Amino acid sequence: MKHKLSFTLALALIILVSNSFAQDKKVNSFIGVEACGTCHKTEKQGKQLDIWKKSTHSQAYKTLQSEKADKIAADLGHKTPAAKTEACLKCHASGYNVDKALLGEKFKVEDGVQCETCHGAGSNYKSLKVMKNRQESVANGLIVHEKTENFCTSCHNSESPTFKEFKFAEMWEKIKHEVPKTN
Ligand code: HEC
Ligand code: HEC
Ligand code: HEC
Ligand code: HEC
Repeated sequence: MKHKLSFTLALALIILVSNSFAQDKKVNSFIGVEACGTCHKTEKQGKQLDIWKKSTHSQAYKTLQSEKADKIAADLGHKTPAAKTEACLKCHASGYNVDKALLGEKFKVEDGVQCETCHGAGSNYKSLKVMKNRQESVANGLIVHEKTENFCTSCHNSESPTFKEFKFAEMWEKIKHEVPKTN
């Protein structure tokens, strides 16, 4: 009897240890806006997908495919079109510089500044069970922002060739996408 118990314990320990190893290696991959949107699109949840689609963040990659963008890039001495220039993509898109294996089927670089640009790649936190628990979501790669303004100005700054100014309160008003408080 005693024997059996210690065997079970040893086995449990092995499983525990190997699981935590597996978790260490679990790299987050990008799932794409439509995949986030399956849950984040209803009135009750706050219509984040819709709000994002109507914002220019959803157009940020396409903006690079314009003549205007190519001219800006050329004037700065870049030899590649804007949409192929790292120095432009870094603020206008996500996923262009990662291993293709880390891009889910629904992920599109054309979606520009997308959910996962701001909240982190989502394959490990996207399940309902994890998402319902903020702490667990963060432990699995969800990025939430405490100092929102500082985060915005990591792109909205004078390194942007077309930058004029950034008025945080006004700009946040244009893209905010809160979960409505129900009680
Ligand atoms: C299976 C459904 C589901 C999917 C898929 C999903 N979410 Fe969520 N998410 C939820 C639920 C439910 C909550 C909890 C919302 C609440 O407070 O009622 C949540 C909360 C959040 C929060 C708020 C966390 C906090 O507490 O401040 C963020 C940010 C978020 N999700 C982003 C994403 C992103 C980005 C994706 C895609 C990578 C995604 N979610 C995919 C269901 C989902
Ligand atoms: C990853 C870089 C990045 C981050 C982070 C970012 N933005 Fe943007 N934002 C852009 C780009 C690029 C555009 C221009 C898109 C276009 O016109 O194609 C833009 C455009 C906008 C616009 C539309 C501009 C206008 O004049 O109407 C608003 C509003 C905006 N951002 C608000 C915010 C806020 C608020 C934050 C922080 C919560 C933020 N952005 C964070 C890259 C970013
Ligand atoms: C540091 C981040 C950042 C970098 C780098 C960046 N952009 Fe932007 N870009 C933005 C933001 C933020 C906006 C929206 C507000 C603004 O104009 O600053 C924007 C807007 C634009 C617009 C639309 C502005 C308009 O008035 O029509 C174009 C075109 C553009 N960027 C082209 C480029 C090109 C080309 C490059 C590379 C040479 C580039 N950007 C590099 C952040 C960046
Ligand atoms: C330009 C950056 C940016 C983009 C793009 C973006 N978010 Fe957010 N999101 C934020 C910031 C900043 C907050 C507020 C601080 C926080 O909770 O992280 C936020 C908050 C949230 C919240 C929590 C709201 C609450 O009431 O606490 C959810 C849910 C969410 N985002 C989901 C999404 C989904 C889904 C997408 C894509 C459809 C998306 N976000 C796109 C920056 C962004």
